Amino acid sequence: MFKKILVAVDGSDHAINAVSSAVELTHGTGATLFLLAVDGCRPLKGPLAELAEAEDLSRDEIFERVLESAVIKAKIPSDTLVEQLIRVGDPAEKILVEADSIGADLIIVGRRGLGAYAELLLGSVSRKVLHLAKVPVMVVNV
Ligand SMILES: Nc1ncnc2c1ncn2[C@@H]1O[C@H](COP(=O)(O)OP(=O)(O)OP(=O)(O)O)[C@@H](O)[C@H]1O
Ligand SMILES: [Mg+2]
Repeated sequence: MFKKILVAVDGSDHAINAVSSAVELTHGTGATLFLLAVDGCRPLKGPLAELAEAEDLSRDEIFERVLESAVIKAKIPSDTLVEQLIRVGDPAEKILVEADSIGADLIIVGRRGLGAYAELLLGSVSRKVLHLAKVPVMVVNV
């Protein structure tokens, strides 16, 4: 079974579905879920922009909220080991670097994220992770 799973979370419903799949996969196995949100230093989009507008939060606090909300919305059981990570930089690169440094045996991403182009089948972050990862990647396509 997988022992260390890195799930990439960007504040989208796709990413919540990725976390839900991780929960199903790991329930009762003792695996650790590493939830990673990367601040790509771009103007905030969609729900993140709304959050920033509604409350006076720093960028760090916004990404903390993204992770907290993923824990709640994906209903991660309280007995699951969870580590929350925030990094700054190119999202795909940080996902790959972090997967290496924690020794993840699986990376889980959503098929799409907060991007606006509805016709895109696979987002650029999930595509880059799929191309370059050294461990298995699960793309959650709902
Ligand atoms: N900044 C981020 N931090 C962590 N994970 C991310 C980030 N951006 C994307 N991801 C992960 O990659 C998945 C796919 O998102 P991606 O950004 O590739 O698609 P998109 O936003 O629809 O398209 P694009 O960003 O290319 O316009 C997300 O569901 C999430 O798992
Ligand atoms: Mg995106």
